[in-house]
Amino acid sequence: MSQILIKYDRVSKSFGSPYRSRKIPVFHDLSLTIGTNERIGILGPSGCGKSTLLRMLLGLIPFEGGKIFFRQQDIKKMTKVERKQFHQDVQVVLQDPLNAFNPVWRMQRSLLEPFVLFPSLKNLLQPENLIKTQLNAVGLEPALLNRYPHQLSGGQLQRLALARALLVDPVCLFLDEATSMLDVSIQAQIMQLIKERQKSKNMSVVIISHDRELIKHMCQRIYAFKDEKFGEIKPSEL
Ligand SMILES: Nc1ncnc2c1ncn2[C@@H]1O[C@H](COP(=O)(O)OP(=O)(O)OP(=O)(O)O)[C@@H](O)[C@H]1O
Ligand SMILES: [Mg+2]
Repeated sequence: MSQILIKYDRVSKSFGSPYRSRKIPVFHDLSLTIGTNERIGILGPSGCGKSTLLRMLLGLIPFEGGKIFFRQQDIKKMTKVERKQFHQDVQVVLQDPLNAFNPVWRMQRSLLEPFVLFPSLKNLLQPENLIKTQLNAVGLEPALLNRYPHQLSGGQLQRLALARALLVDPVCLFLDEATSMLDVSIQAQIMQLIKERQKSKNMSVVIISHDRELIKHMCQRIYAFKDEKFGEIKPSEL
């Protein structure tokens, strides 16, 4: 039985609209748990609130009701030090890969950034070699490191974002439609890599997608947005 790593406890979120005085609800009283060392799927149609869930966890947008916990700590009450550790432990590969990187940095600098940012990675020797090994694992040539983000394809950027996330050795990896720009065979290789890494490092993986087959293939537990409701479903219900 795995321990609870992340917990959403009856969280509600709505957005204001310039055309209406009332806020538009995205979800209400949503609960969800992510255990250590498990692969979770979050499934739902476009616009149902999947990326919103992730943005709330990362502190990018506020939420009105409920609480989110990371290792039993309320994420709104984290100290600066705890928050920094949280941002190392929880890595995300977001939906839009072009926005994942600083547009005026070559990729080399973006991939070296975690080694500058996170205390436990600062003293690692030869991070360049670790980066090259990680790039190889996602099927990319090191020569791409000399390019700027706009000089790369969407699929290459998605794999670079994944490589950067895995370099940090996260406790939990969120993939928000993170392989949507890859062709079927590369997507299958990447999913195999993620599964192997999850098992060897005891990492939790959360796959956010509207791709039923991908989630069915990859995930041990599945949550779904369906008919304005959110909850856990059995793989057989897919
Ligand atoms: N900043 C915002 N202001 C107002 N409404 C927003 C904002 N961000 C998202 N929304 C709305 O909230 C809803 C959920 O958006 P979200 O991006 O979470 O959907 P999603 O499930 O990730 O969709 P997709 O599969 O297309 O990525 C949508 O109706 C969207 O229009
Ligand atoms: Mg989304």
